[in-house]
Amino acid sequence: MAQFQLEVNKNKYSVDVDPDTPLLWVLRDTLGLTGTKYSCGEGICGTCTVLIDGKAERSCALEVQNAVGKEITTIEGFAENPTHPIFKTWIDLEVSQCGYCQPGQILTLASLLNEKTKPSIKQVEDVMDSVLCRCGTYHRIKKAVVKLVEEEK
Ligand code: FES
Ligand code: FES
Repeated sequence: MAQFQLEVNKNKYSVDVDPDTPLLWVLRDTLGLTGTKYSCGEGICGTCTVLIDGKAERSCALEVQNAVGKEITTIEGFAENPTHPIFKTWIDLEVSQCGYCQPGQILTLASLLNEKTKPSIKQVEDVMDSVLCRCGTYHRIKKAVVKLVEEEK
């Protein structure tokens, strides 16, 4: 075990965990931020996505020791701005079904929009395709993305 200082959703935390503990488990079990979901645990599905310095990363595949000194944003932190256009569009188009994958979907899209304010639909699809949804909400996600990107133009 070792002590690590983390900055999550603009709050500072000190955690005592093994250095190779996946960030996912520190967020969920140590800090109680259960909005970040566990699914494959192998960096494949994208369900556990968080923002690290504004970029989407899979928290199940990121050791806590490598998250030190970075700005970590979970869906709880992102939701502090409930008027964000992504949330508004998601609600307007009733994108979510069970909701389990949605933090990963939303933060993956947010990361892309942080990098490119006006991505092409193809660029968005290439990125979003890597986040799996067992409920098959892909068609509504696509509709929401098209609306968001169109509104940016
Ligand atoms: S749970 Fe992390 S990518 Fe699937
Ligand atoms: S909304 Fe249920 S897994 Fe995506």
